[in-house]
Amino acid sequence: MNIRKISIGSDHGGFEYKDVIKNFLTNEGYEVIDEGTYSKESCDYPEIAKQVAKKVSTGEVSRGILICGSGIGMSIAANKVKGIRAALCSETTSARLSREHNNSNVLCMGQRLIGETMAVEIVKVWLNTEFSGGRHQNRIDMIE
Ligand code: RB5
Repeated sequence: MNIRKISIGSDHGGFEYKDVIKNFLTNEGYEVIDEGTYSKESCDYPEIAKQVAKKVSTGEVSRGILICGSGIGMSIAANKVKGIRAALCSETTSARLSREHNNSNVLCMGQRLIGETMAVEIVKVWLNTEFSGGRHQNRIDMIE
């Protein structure tokens, strides 16, 4: 799967990591669509989550990354959008498993809960792990 196009978003609680990850992805050659927020001013995470999730859902981009303070609000909101399998990850094993077993298409993280280096490592693992398919696909089919 060509995952060169990624939509990214955060609220004020994830603003700094959004920029860090955006720079990382751009340096790696990904095309990044930044859905905001664009300042540290307080804003509402559900709006950003929906914007990113809809782009993934329609196929405009192949993956989405969302960051808020805890990652929880973003993951709850993103998972309301049809076809979205958003995984909230705080370490790399969950990121890997969310790809292998759940074919996650949106990654959520909490800036207030994990270090910057860990956030980038999670992104690397998440982007470079393939879905295992097989019995896992059958289970995903049962979700929708
Ligand atoms: C904002 O203060 C905070 O609630 C938000 O970033 C997020 O953690 C929500 O789940």
